Amino acid sequence: MNAHAQPQHDTTHGELHAELSDAFDTTAMATETTLLNPRFYTTDFDEMDRIDVTPVRAEWDRLIAQMKSDPNRGHFKKTADWDSIDWSAMPPALRAELIDFLVSSCTAEFSGCVLYKEMKRRGNNPDICELFNYMARDEARHAGFINDALREAGVAVNLGFLTKAKKYTYFRPKFIYYATYLSEKIGYARYITIYRHLEAHPEHRIHPIFKWFREWCNDEFSHGEAFALLMRTDPKLTGSFTNKLWIRFFLTAVYSTMWVRDHARVEFHKALGIDIDWYDQEVFRKTSTIARQVFPVELDIDHPRWLPGLRRMDEAMRDMDKAKRQGGLGGWLAHKTASLRALRAFAGLYLIPVKHQIPPAQVRLEPSY
Ligand SMILES: [Fe+2]
Ligand SMILES: [Fe+2]
Repeated sequence: MNAHAQPQHDTTHGELHAELSDAFDTTAMATETTLLNPRFYTTDFDEMDRIDVTPVRAEWDRLIAQMKSDPNRGHFKKTADWDSIDWSAMPPALRAELIDFLVSSCTAEFSGCVLYKEMKRRGNNPDICELFNYMARDEARHAGFINDALREAGVAVNLGFLTKAKKYTYFRPKFIYYATYLSEKIGYARYITIYRHLEAHPEHRIHPIFKWFREWCNDEFSHGEAFALLMRTDPKLTGSFTNKLWIRFFLTAVYSTMWVRDHARVEFHKALGIDIDWYDQEVFRKTSTIARQVFPVELDIDHPRWLPGLRRMDEAMRDMDKAKRQGGLGGWLAHKTASLRALRAFAGLYLIPVKHQIPPAQVRLEPSY
């Protein structure tokens, strides 16, 4: 992967590519660590290596057999369905947001790849190593496929560079389970919701990559299944009082981050014919329904304080961004005030009463949307 946003003059749109490359330092976009950008994680690999999957052995073996059969082996290749995109005809604001969407998706996929690969490399437990090997394989394909799409636009993320340059956030294994389980299931819900929407409205399909989302999201679904089973190996992980509070925290953080991030891409969603409020609520609903397989608590996304809280958080984050760009003492003060508002909005969302449930004895689900 040696395409550090270099102009590609060998194409018919050489000039456009040069212009895009100047406008988007995609590797820098992907390397930046903010509250909202996809992160890279590291964890206590030895502790993860000690997991014993005996309590979920039957369901585990079925899942691993399915991953081993590699149903998407041939899927991530451009076919005749990959229609060519006229990037030069695209309004600049849309182009910027589409590229931002692709870069952030590529970073998220690749961040999974790096974490899973590291787990496989450091582990000795055959069950764990086999699982992480298959998941790293899938995420590498996903990231590579998106990067191919970016390269067509004359930009791409330098993944090798990213591995070294990106800051890694340390999470204890249980936090990795909560965060990664959620991001896999939310990834599934996002991809399938876009796919179904564009299936009904193909005139809004602004990029061919969306045609690949159905099989793609099944990979994410299986990855989520693996983390659900891992969490089931130890009842404390989802059953203890403290861990329920942590699950609630991760649900609130992941959902509200997605809301803020999506609402920053107005042109992109307009072009897709997607109402962002509808889309996000739909993704939360699907994710929450799926997460009943393992989480004993569920956020009440129909609560009267839910949407207003998300909107307050979005406004506060926008103001934080503005203040940061303003700089100076005024900017610093404005940033502090806006951060406090964001924190208060987050606390408000966190404190909305949750729904409690007892997850079923059988963990495994099949993708059904
Ligand atoms: Fe993926
Ligand atoms: Fe995944």
